[in-house]
Amino acid sequence: MRAPCARATTSECAHVGARRAAVAWRRGRLAGLRGARAEEAARRGDVFRASCSSSTDQVEAVQADEAEVAPQVPKGLRGVRNIVAVASCKGGVGKSTTCVNLAYTLSQSGARVGIFDADLYGPSLPIMVSPEYGKSKLVMDPVTKELQPVEYEGVKLVSFGFTTEGSAMMRGPMASGLVDQMLTTTDWGDLDYLLIDMPPGTGDIHLTVGQSIPITCAVIVTTPHKLAYADVAKGIRMFARLNVPCVGVVENMSYFDGDDGKRYFPFGEGSGERIQSEFAIPHLVQMPIREEVSSGSDEGVPCVVSDPESEIASVLRGLGASVAEEISKLGRRRSRAKYDPNMHEIHVYIARGEEDWDSFEVEPAVVRENDQSAKFIDQLTGKPLDADFNRDIFPLEVLPLGNYAVQISWSDGFNQIATFEQLEAMERIQ
Ligand SMILES: Nc1ncnc2c1ncn2[C@@H]1O[C@H](COP(=O)(O)OP(=O)(O)OP(=O)(O)O)[C@@H](O)[C@H]1O
Ligand SMILES: [Mg+2]
Repeated sequence: MRAPCARATTSECAHVGARRAAVAWRRGRLAGLRGARAEEAARRGDVFRASCSSSTDQVEAVQADEAEVAPQVPKGLRGVRNIVAVASCKGGVGKSTTCVNLAYTLSQSGARVGIFDADLYGPSLPIMVSPEYGKSKLVMDPVTKELQPVEYEGVKLVSFGFTTEGSAMMRGPMASGLVDQMLTTTDWGDLDYLLIDMPPGTGDIHLTVGQSIPITCAVIVTTPHKLAYADVAKGIRMFARLNVPCVGVVENMSYFDGDDGKRYFPFGEGSGERIQSEFAIPHLVQMPIREEVSSGSDEGVPCVVSDPESEIASVLRGLGASVAEEISKLGRRRSRAKYDPNMHEIHVYIARGEEDWDSFEVEPAVVRENDQSAKFIDQLTGKPLDADFNRDIFPLEVLPLGNYAVQISWSDGFNQIATFEQLEAMERIQ
Protein backbone atom coordinates (compact mmCIF):
# COMPACT_ATOMS: atom_id res chain seq x y z
CA MET A 1 0.00 0.00 0.00
CA ARG A 2 1.41 3.32 -1.03
CA ALA A 3 1.53 6.05 1.57
CA PRO A 4 0.22 9.47 0.58
CA CYS A 5 2.71 11.76 -1.07
CA ALA A 6 4.70 13.55 1.60
CA ARG A 7 5.00 16.81 -0.32
CA ALA A 8 2.30 19.42 0.00
CA THR A 9 0.03 19.45 -3.02
CA THR A 10 -1.03 22.50 -4.99
CA SER A 11 -4.48 22.48 -3.48
CA GLU A 12 -3.07 22.27 0.03
CA CYS A 13 -0.77 25.26 -0.55
CA ALA A 14 -3.48 27.40 -2.06
CA HIS A 15 -5.82 26.93 0.82
CA VAL A 16 -3.48 26.85 3.74
CA GLY A 17 -4.51 30.23 5.22
CA ALA A 18 -8.19 29.52 4.99
CA ARG A 19 -7.63 26.06 6.36
CA ARG A 20 -5.79 27.32 9.44
CA ALA A 21 -8.72 29.57 10.26
CA ALA A 22 -11.13 26.69 9.73
CA VAL A 23 -9.04 24.37 11.89
CA ALA A 24 -8.94 26.94 14.70
CA TRP A 25 -12.69 27.31 14.50
CA ARG A 26 -13.15 23.53 14.51
CA ARG A 27 -10.82 23.13 17.45
CA GLY A 28 -12.99 25.59 19.37
CA ARG A 29 -16.01 23.41 18.71
CA LEU A 30 -14.11 20.25 19.39
CA ALA A 31 -14.23 20.53 23.15
CA GLY A 32 -18.02 20.46 23.05
CA LEU A 33 -18.20 17.71 20.50
CA ARG A 34 -15.69 15.43 22.16
CA GLY A 35 -18.01 14.64 25.03
CA ALA A 36 -20.82 13.74 22.67
CA ARG A 37 -18.58 11.56 20.52
CA ALA A 38 -17.10 9.73 23.46
CA GLU A 39 -20.60 8.97 24.66
CA GLU A 40 -21.67 7.76 21.24
CA ALA A 41 -18.48 5.74 20.80
CA ALA A 42 -18.89 4.14 24.20
CA ARG A 43 -22.49 3.32 23.37
CA ARG A 44 -21.28 1.59 20.20
CA GLY A 45 -18.49 -0.14 22.08
CA ASP A 46 -16.03 1.48 19.71
CA VAL A 47 -12.75 1.60 21.59
CA PHE A 48 -10.87 3.46 18.86
CA ARG A 49 -13.30 6.36 18.66
CA ALA A 50 -13.68 6.54 22.43
CA SER A 51 -9.93 6.67 22.90
CA CYS A 52 -9.52 9.24 20.14
CA SER A 53 -11.78 11.49 22.12
CA SER A 54 -9.05 11.90 24.68
CA SER A 55 -6.59 14.64 23.77
CA THR A 56 -3.55 12.51 24.69
CA ASP A 57 -4.18 10.38 21.64
CA GLN A 58 -4.40 13.24 19.19
CA VAL A 59 -0.95 12.75 17.72
CA GLU A 60 -1.45 9.03 17.27
CA ALA A 61 -4.80 9.57 15.62
CA VAL A 62 -3.38 12.07 13.15
CA GLN A 63 -0.47 9.73 12.35
CA ALA A 64 -2.91 6.91 11.81
CA ASP A 65 -4.88 9.24 9.59
CA GLU A 66 -1.84 9.97 7.43
CA ALA A 67 -0.74 6.37 7.21
CA GLU A 68 -4.08 4.72 6.98
CA VAL A 69 -5.23 5.02 3.43
CA ALA A 70 -5.74 1.26 3.34
CA PRO A 71 -9.09 0.38 1.79
CA GLN A 72 -11.82 -0.56 4.22
CA VAL A 73 -12.80 -3.49 2.08
CA PRO A 74 -14.95 -6.38 3.32
CA LYS A 75 -13.03 -8.78 5.58
CA GLY A 76 -12.92 -11.73 3.19
CA LEU A 77 -11.42 -9.54 0.45
CA ARG A 78 -8.65 -7.97 2.50
CA GLY A 79 -6.04 -10.41 1.21
CA VAL A 80 -6.99 -9.70 -2.41
CA ARG A 81 -4.47 -7.42 -4.09
CA ASN A 82 -6.20 -6.73 -7.40
CA ILE A 83 -9.75 -7.09 -8.64
CA VAL A 84 -10.23 -7.32 -12.39
CA ALA A 85 -13.70 -7.11 -13.93
CA VAL A 86 -14.12 -8.90 -17.26
CA ALA A 87 -17.07 -7.25 -18.88
CA SER A 88 -18.96 -6.01 -21.90
CA CYS A 89 -22.50 -4.81 -22.11
CA LYS A 90 -23.16 -7.26 -24.90
CA GLY A 91 -24.25 -10.82 -24.27
CA GLY A 92 -22.57 -13.87 -25.77
CA VAL A 93 -19.33 -12.15 -26.85
CA GLY A 94 -17.10 -14.45 -24.79
CA LYS A 95 -16.79 -12.68 -21.41
CA SER A 96 -16.88 -15.89 -19.40
CA THR A 97 -14.56 -17.69 -21.81
CA THR A 98 -12.04 -14.84 -21.59
CA CYS A 99 -12.39 -14.50 -17.83
CA VAL A 100 -11.86 -18.19 -17.09
CA ASN A 101 -8.95 -18.64 -19.50
CA LEU A 102 -7.30 -15.40 -18.36
CA ALA A 103 -7.58 -16.59 -14.76
CA TYR A 104 -5.86 -19.90 -15.51
CA THR A 105 -3.19 -18.14 -17.58
CA LEU A 106 -2.39 -15.85 -14.65
CA SER A 107 -2.38 -18.86 -12.34
CA GLN A 108 0.06 -20.68 -14.66
CA SER A 109 2.38 -17.69 -14.35
CA GLY A 110 2.55 -18.32 -10.61
CA ALA A 111 -0.09 -15.84 -9.38
CA ARG A 112 -2.73 -16.71 -6.79
CA VAL A 113 -6.06 -16.33 -8.55
CA GLY A 114 -9.80 -16.50 -7.86
CA ILE A 115 -12.85 -16.18 -10.10
CA PHE A 116 -16.18 -14.74 -9.02
CA ASP A 117 -19.05 -15.45 -11.38
CA ALA A 118 -21.38 -12.46 -10.95
CA ASP A 119 -23.95 -13.85 -13.39
CA LEU A 120 -26.74 -15.14 -11.21
CA TYR A 121 -29.23 -15.71 -13.99
CA GLY A 122 -26.93 -17.83 -16.13
CA PRO A 123 -23.82 -18.81 -14.18
CA SER A 124 -21.22 -20.20 -16.59
CA LEU A 125 -18.43 -21.09 -14.20
CA PRO A 126 -19.66 -24.57 -13.13
CA ILE A 127 -19.93 -25.58 -16.80
CA MET A 128 -16.66 -24.04 -17.94
CA VAL A 129 -14.68 -25.34 -14.97
CA SER A 130 -15.70 -28.65 -13.48
CA PRO A 131 -14.07 -29.48 -10.18
CA GLU A 132 -14.36 -33.06 -9.02
CA TYR A 133 -17.86 -34.01 -7.97
CA GLY A 134 -18.12 -33.64 -4.21
CA LYS A 135 -15.73 -30.68 -4.21
CA SER A 136 -18.02 -28.66 -6.39
CA LYS A 137 -20.31 -27.14 -3.78
CA LEU A 138 -19.69 -23.98 -1.81
CA VAL A 139 -19.53 -24.60 1.92
CA MET A 140 -20.23 -22.08 4.65
CA ASP A 141 -17.93 -22.14 7.68
CA PRO A 142 -20.30 -22.75 10.61
CA VAL A 143 -18.29 -20.50 12.94
CA THR A 144 -17.24 -17.55 10.77
CA LYS A 145 -20.28 -17.81 8.45
CA GLU A 146 -17.92 -17.22 5.54
CA LEU A 147 -18.22 -19.05 2.23
CA GLN A 148 -15.32 -21.31 1.34
CA PRO A 149 -14.62 -21.20 -2.42
CA VAL A 150 -14.54 -24.31 -4.58
CA GLU A 151 -11.08 -24.92 -6.04
CA TYR A 152 -9.87 -26.35 -9.36
CA GLU A 153 -6.23 -26.52 -10.44
CA GLY A 154 -5.31 -24.01 -7.73
CA VAL A 155 -7.86 -21.35 -8.74
CA LYS A 156 -10.57 -20.43 -6.23
CA LEU A 157 -14.05 -20.36 -7.68
CA VAL A 158 -17.32 -18.87 -6.46
CA SER A 159 -20.53 -18.98 -8.46
CA PHE A 160 -24.20 -19.18 -7.65
CA GLY A 161 -24.08 -22.29 -9.81
CA PHE A 162 -21.97 -23.98 -7.11
CA THR A 163 -24.82 -23.69 -4.62
CA THR A 164 -27.66 -26.15 -4.58
CA GLU A 165 -29.90 -23.54 -6.21
CA GLY A 166 -28.44 -23.62 -9.73
CA SER A 167 -29.40 -20.50 -11.68
CA ALA A 168 -31.80 -17.98 -10.22
CA MET A 169 -35.16 -16.48 -11.08
CA MET A 170 -35.39 -13.31 -9.07
CA ARG A 171 -35.90 -9.59 -9.36
CA GLY A 172 -32.97 -7.19 -9.78
CA PRO A 173 -32.61 -5.84 -6.21
CA MET A 174 -32.73 -9.36 -4.74
CA ALA A 175 -30.18 -10.61 -7.25
CA SER A 176 -27.78 -7.74 -6.60
CA GLY A 177 -28.17 -8.27 -2.84
CA LEU A 178 -27.24 -11.91 -3.26
CA VAL A 179 -24.24 -11.11 -5.47
CA ASP A 180 -23.04 -8.58 -2.90
CA GLN A 181 -23.45 -11.13 -0.11
CA MET A 182 -21.60 -13.88 -1.97
CA LEU A 183 -18.77 -11.60 -3.03
CA THR A 184 -18.21 -9.98 0.34
CA THR A 185 -18.76 -12.95 2.65
CA THR A 186 -16.41 -15.31 0.81
CA ASP A 187 -13.13 -16.07 2.51
CA TRP A 188 -10.90 -15.47 -0.53
CA GLY A 189 -7.66 -15.70 1.44
CA ASP A 190 -4.54 -14.21 -0.18
CA LEU A 191 -4.98 -13.61 -3.89
CA ASP A 192 -2.97 -11.65 -6.45
CA TYR A 193 -5.95 -11.41 -8.76
CA LEU A 194 -9.66 -11.86 -8.28
CA LEU A 195 -11.37 -11.93 -11.68
CA ILE A 196 -15.02 -11.06 -11.88
CA ASP A 197 -17.04 -12.50 -14.71
CA MET A 198 -19.70 -9.83 -15.20
CA PRO A 199 -23.14 -10.58 -16.60
CA PRO A 200 -24.25 -8.79 -19.79
CA GLY A 201 -25.77 -5.30 -19.49
CA THR A 202 -25.20 -2.38 -17.14
CA GLY A 203 -27.79 -3.12 -14.50
CA ASP A 204 -28.13 -3.45 -10.75
CA ILE A 205 -25.50 -6.17 -10.44
CA HIS A 206 -22.82 -4.05 -12.15
CA LEU A 207 -23.50 -1.10 -9.92
CA THR A 208 -23.59 -3.30 -6.82
CA VAL A 209 -20.25 -4.89 -7.65
CA GLY A 210 -18.75 -1.49 -8.55
CA GLN A 211 -19.99 0.03 -5.32
CA SER A 212 -19.22 -2.72 -2.84
CA ILE A 213 -15.63 -3.49 -3.79
CA PRO A 214 -12.72 -1.47 -5.15
CA ILE A 215 -12.29 -2.82 -8.69
CA THR A 216 -8.71 -2.26 -9.83
CA CYS A 217 -9.39 -2.33 -13.56
CA ALA A 218 -11.59 -3.80 -16.25
CA VAL A 219 -10.96 -5.90 -19.35
CA ILE A 220 -13.53 -5.27 -22.05
CA VAL A 221 -14.62 -8.08 -24.36
CA THR A 222 -16.16 -7.36 -27.72
CA THR A 223 -16.60 -8.99 -31.12
CA PRO A 224 -15.94 -7.45 -34.54
CA HIS A 225 -19.68 -6.99 -35.16
CA LYS A 226 -20.87 -3.40 -35.61
CA LEU A 227 -23.75 -4.22 -33.27
CA ALA A 228 -21.33 -5.00 -30.44
CA TYR A 229 -19.73 -1.55 -30.60
CA ALA A 230 -22.64 0.47 -29.18
CA ASP A 231 -23.17 -1.89 -26.25
CA VAL A 232 -19.50 -2.20 -25.42
CA ALA A 233 -19.07 1.60 -25.49
CA LYS A 234 -21.89 1.81 -22.93
CA GLY A 235 -20.03 -0.65 -20.70
CA ILE A 236 -16.80 1.36 -20.91
CA ARG A 237 -18.66 4.56 -19.97
CA MET A 238 -20.17 2.76 -16.97
CA PHE A 239 -16.68 1.85 -15.72
CA ALA A 240 -15.52 5.42 -16.30
CA ARG A 241 -18.31 6.63 -14.03
CA LEU A 242 -17.25 4.11 -11.41
CA ASN A 243 -13.69 5.40 -11.77
CA VAL A 244 -12.44 2.00 -12.97
CA PRO A 245 -9.80 2.15 -15.73
CA CYS A 246 -10.25 -0.21 -18.70
CA VAL A 247 -6.81 -1.68 -19.36
CA GLY A 248 -7.46 -4.01 -22.28
CA VAL A 249 -9.88 -4.80 -25.09
CA VAL A 250 -10.32 -8.35 -26.26
CA GLU A 251 -11.73 -8.56 -29.77
CA ASN A 252 -13.02 -12.10 -29.55
CA MET A 253 -13.97 -14.28 -32.53
CA SER A 254 -11.80 -11.94 -34.53
CA TYR A 255 -10.72 -14.32 -37.30
CA PHE A 256 -10.05 -17.93 -38.18
CA ASP A 257 -7.36 -19.54 -40.27
CA GLY A 258 -8.73 -21.65 -43.11
CA ASP A 259 -7.35 -24.97 -44.31
CA ASP A 260 -6.21 -23.09 -47.42
CA GLY A 261 -3.74 -21.16 -45.29
CA LYS A 262 -5.73 -17.90 -45.57
CA ARG A 263 -6.95 -15.83 -42.60
CA TYR A 264 -10.66 -15.02 -42.65
CA PHE A 265 -12.50 -12.22 -40.83
CA PRO A 266 -16.11 -13.43 -40.98
CA PHE A 267 -17.56 -10.68 -38.78
CA GLY A 268 -15.62 -7.74 -40.21
CA GLU A 269 -12.56 -5.90 -39.00
CA GLY A 270 -11.62 -2.85 -36.99
CA SER A 271 -14.18 -2.82 -34.15
CA GLY A 272 -11.63 -3.60 -31.43
CA GLU A 273 -9.23 -0.97 -32.83
CA ARG A 274 -12.00 1.59 -32.91
CA ILE A 275 -12.83 0.94 -29.25
CA GLN A 276 -9.17 1.01 -28.30
CA SER A 277 -8.49 4.35 -29.94
CA GLU A 278 -11.78 6.06 -29.02
CA PHE A 279 -11.48 5.20 -25.34
CA ALA A 280 -7.67 5.27 -25.12
CA ILE A 281 -7.44 1.68 -23.87
CA PRO A 282 -3.78 0.66 -23.76
CA HIS A 283 -3.98 -2.94 -25.05
CA LEU A 284 -5.89 -4.73 -27.79
CA VAL A 285 -5.87 -8.50 -28.09
CA GLN A 286 -7.48 -10.37 -30.99
CA MET A 287 -8.72 -13.85 -30.16
CA PRO A 288 -9.37 -16.24 -33.04
CA ILE A 289 -12.39 -18.49 -33.38
CA ARG A 290 -11.10 -21.92 -32.36
CA GLU A 291 -12.95 -25.14 -31.84
CA GLU A 292 -10.89 -25.99 -28.76
CA VAL A 293 -12.01 -22.79 -27.01
CA SER A 294 -15.62 -23.81 -27.27
CA SER A 295 -15.10 -27.53 -26.57
CA GLY A 296 -12.87 -26.75 -23.59
CA SER A 297 -15.62 -24.64 -22.08
CA ASP A 298 -18.25 -27.30 -22.75
CA GLU A 299 -16.10 -30.04 -21.22
CA GLY A 300 -15.20 -28.11 -18.07
CA VAL A 301 -11.48 -27.85 -18.75
CA PRO A 302 -10.36 -24.37 -19.91
CA CYS A 303 -8.37 -24.64 -23.15
CA VAL A 304 -5.30 -22.97 -21.61
CA VAL A 305 -5.25 -25.84 -19.06
CA SER A 306 -5.78 -28.65 -21.58
CA ASP A 307 -3.26 -27.22 -24.07
CA PRO A 308 -0.98 -24.55 -22.60
CA GLU A 309 1.13 -24.54 -25.79
CA SER A 310 -1.74 -23.69 -28.16
CA GLU A 311 -2.02 -20.46 -30.15
CA ILE A 312 -4.96 -19.38 -28.02
CA ALA A 313 -2.97 -19.95 -24.82
CA SER A 314 -0.23 -17.73 -26.19
CA VAL A 315 -2.75 -14.97 -27.05
CA LEU A 316 -4.11 -15.18 -23.50
CA ARG A 317 -0.62 -15.09 -22.01
CA GLY A 318 -0.15 -11.81 -23.88
CA LEU A 319 -3.39 -10.52 -22.38
CA GLY A 320 -2.35 -11.65 -18.88
CA ALA A 321 1.02 -9.88 -19.23
CA SER A 322 -0.70 -6.67 -20.40
CA VAL A 323 -3.13 -6.73 -17.48
CA ALA A 324 -0.32 -7.32 -14.99
CA GLU A 325 1.74 -4.52 -16.56
CA GLU A 326 -1.13 -2.01 -16.41
CA ILE A 327 -1.95 -2.96 -12.83
CA SER A 328 1.63 -2.38 -11.78
CA LYS A 329 1.46 1.05 -13.46
CA LEU A 330 -1.73 1.86 -11.60
CA GLY A 331 0.09 0.96 -8.40
CA ARG A 332 -2.09 0.75 -5.32
CA ARG A 333 -3.54 4.20 -5.77
CA ARG A 334 -7.08 4.56 -4.60
CA SER A 335 -8.95 7.58 -3.40
CA ARG A 336 -9.97 7.45 0.25
CA ALA A 337 -11.73 9.48 2.89
CA LYS A 338 -11.75 9.19 6.64
CA TYR A 339 -13.05 11.14 9.59
CA ASP A 340 -10.58 12.64 12.05
CA PRO A 341 -12.46 12.94 15.35
CA ASN A 342 -9.79 15.13 16.94
CA MET A 343 -9.88 17.83 14.29
CA HIS A 344 -13.54 17.21 13.53
CA GLU A 345 -12.89 17.11 9.81
CA ILE A 346 -13.13 14.62 6.99
CA HIS A 347 -9.73 13.90 5.43
CA VAL A 348 -9.92 13.13 1.73
CA TYR A 349 -7.10 11.54 -0.27
CA ILE A 350 -7.51 11.76 -4.02
CA ALA A 351 -5.28 9.46 -6.08
CA ARG A 352 -3.88 11.48 -8.99
CA GLY A 353 -1.31 9.15 -10.50
CA GLU A 354 1.05 6.37 -9.67
CA GLU A 355 2.89 8.44 -7.07
CA ASP A 356 0.63 11.38 -6.41
CA TRP A 357 -2.07 12.03 -3.87
CA ASP A 358 -3.91 15.24 -3.25
CA SER A 359 -5.24 15.49 0.26
CA PHE A 360 -7.55 18.02 1.78
CA GLU A 361 -10.03 18.35 4.63
CA VAL A 362 -13.71 19.13 4.52
CA GLU A 363 -15.91 20.19 7.38
CA PRO A 364 -18.52 17.51 8.14
CA ALA A 365 -21.44 19.97 8.12
CA VAL A 366 -20.38 21.20 4.65
CA VAL A 367 -20.43 17.62 3.37
CA ARG A 368 -23.83 17.06 4.82
CA GLU A 369 -25.41 20.31 3.62
CA ASN A 370 -24.22 19.61 0.09
CA ASP A 371 -25.78 16.18 -0.12
CA GLN A 372 -27.42 15.91 -3.53
CA SER A 373 -29.70 12.97 -2.83
CA ALA A 374 -33.48 13.04 -2.92
CA LYS A 375 -33.39 12.31 0.81
CA PHE A 376 -31.87 15.72 1.46
CA ILE A 377 -32.83 17.92 -1.49
CA ASP A 378 -36.40 18.60 -2.49
CA GLN A 379 -36.41 17.52 -6.14
CA LEU A 380 -39.02 20.18 -7.07
CA THR A 381 -37.63 23.24 -5.28
CA GLY A 382 -33.95 22.21 -5.21
CA LYS A 383 -33.85 23.31 -1.55
CA PRO A 384 -32.72 21.15 1.40
CA LEU A 385 -35.55 19.25 3.06
CA ASP A 386 -33.89 19.66 6.43
CA ALA A 387 -32.03 22.96 6.23
CA ASP A 388 -31.93 23.21 10.04
CA PHE A 389 -30.10 19.93 10.61
CA ASN A 390 -27.86 19.85 13.68
CA ARG A 391 -24.49 21.12 12.40
CA ASP A 392 -22.67 19.30 15.21
CA ILE A 393 -23.30 15.96 13.56
CA PHE A 394 -20.24 13.81 12.86
CA PRO A 395 -19.59 10.66 10.82
CA LEU A 396 -19.79 7.38 12.70
CA GLU A 397 -18.41 5.55 9.71
CA VAL A 398 -16.93 6.48 6.32
CA LEU A 399 -16.83 3.48 3.98
CA PRO A 400 -15.56 3.34 0.40
CA LEU A 401 -18.11 2.72 -2.34
CA GLY A 402 -16.05 1.21 -5.09
CA ASN A 403 -13.41 3.66 -6.30
CA TYR A 404 -15.58 6.67 -6.82
CA ALA A 405 -17.43 7.55 -3.64
CA VAL A 406 -17.77 7.08 0.10
CA GLN A 407 -20.80 6.20 2.15
CA ILE A 408 -21.09 8.25 5.33
CA SER A 409 -23.20 7.12 8.28
CA TRP A 410 -23.91 10.24 10.32
CA SER A 411 -24.40 10.43 14.09
CA ASP A 412 -28.05 11.44 13.58
CA GLY A 413 -28.80 8.27 11.60
CA PHE A 414 -28.65 9.88 8.14
CA ASN A 415 -26.78 7.99 5.41
CA GLN A 416 -25.09 9.89 2.61
CA ILE A 417 -23.21 8.90 -0.50
CA ALA A 418 -20.60 11.50 -1.50
CA THR A 419 -18.54 11.06 -4.64
CA PHE A 420 -14.90 12.17 -4.59
CA GLU A 421 -15.81 14.70 -7.28
CA GLN A 422 -18.44 16.20 -4.96
CA LEU A 423 -15.99 16.23 -2.03
CA GLU A 424 -13.48 18.16 -4.14
CA ALA A 425 -16.16 20.69 -5.05
CA MET A 426 -17.11 21.00 -1.36
CA GLU A 427 -13.51 21.71 -0.41
CA ARG A 428 -13.49 24.60 -2.89
CA ILE A 429 -16.64 26.22 -1.50
CA GLN A 430 -16.03 25.89 2.23
N1 LIG B 1 -12.82 -17.58 -29.49
C1 LIG B 1 -13.81 -18.48 -29.48
N2 LIG B 1 -13.83 -19.52 -30.32
C2 LIG B 1 -14.83 -20.41 -30.30
N3 LIG B 1 -15.89 -20.35 -29.46
C3 LIG B 1 -15.93 -19.33 -28.61
C4 LIG B 1 -14.91 -18.35 -28.56
N4 LIG B 1 -15.21 -17.46 -27.58
C5 LIG B 1 -16.38 -17.88 -27.05
N5 LIG B 1 -16.82 -18.99 -27.67
C6 LIG B 1 -18.06 -19.72 -27.37
O1 LIG B 1 -19.13 -18.77 -27.47
C7 LIG B 1 -20.12 -19.04 -26.49
C8 LIG B 1 -20.40 -17.81 -25.66
O2 LIG B 1 -19.25 -17.51 -24.89
P1 LIG B 1 -19.37 -16.99 -23.40
O3 LIG B 1 -20.34 -17.79 -22.61
O4 LIG B 1 -17.99 -16.88 -22.88
O5 LIG B 1 -19.98 -15.54 -23.66
P2 LIG B 1 -20.50 -14.49 -22.58
O6 LIG B 1 -20.20 -13.14 -23.14
O7 LIG B 1 -19.96 -14.80 -21.25
O8 LIG B 1 -22.06 -14.76 -22.61
P3 LIG B 1 -23.15 -14.18 -21.56
O9 LIG B 1 -23.40 -12.78 -22.02
O10 LIG B 1 -24.31 -15.08 -21.78
O11 LIG B 1 -22.56 -14.27 -20.21
C9 LIG B 1 -19.60 -20.21 -25.67
O12 LIG B 1 -20.18 -21.40 -26.12
C10 LIG B 1 -18.10 -20.24 -25.95
O13 LIG B 1 -17.54 -21.51 -25.83
MG1 LIG C 1 -20.97 -15.15 -19.39
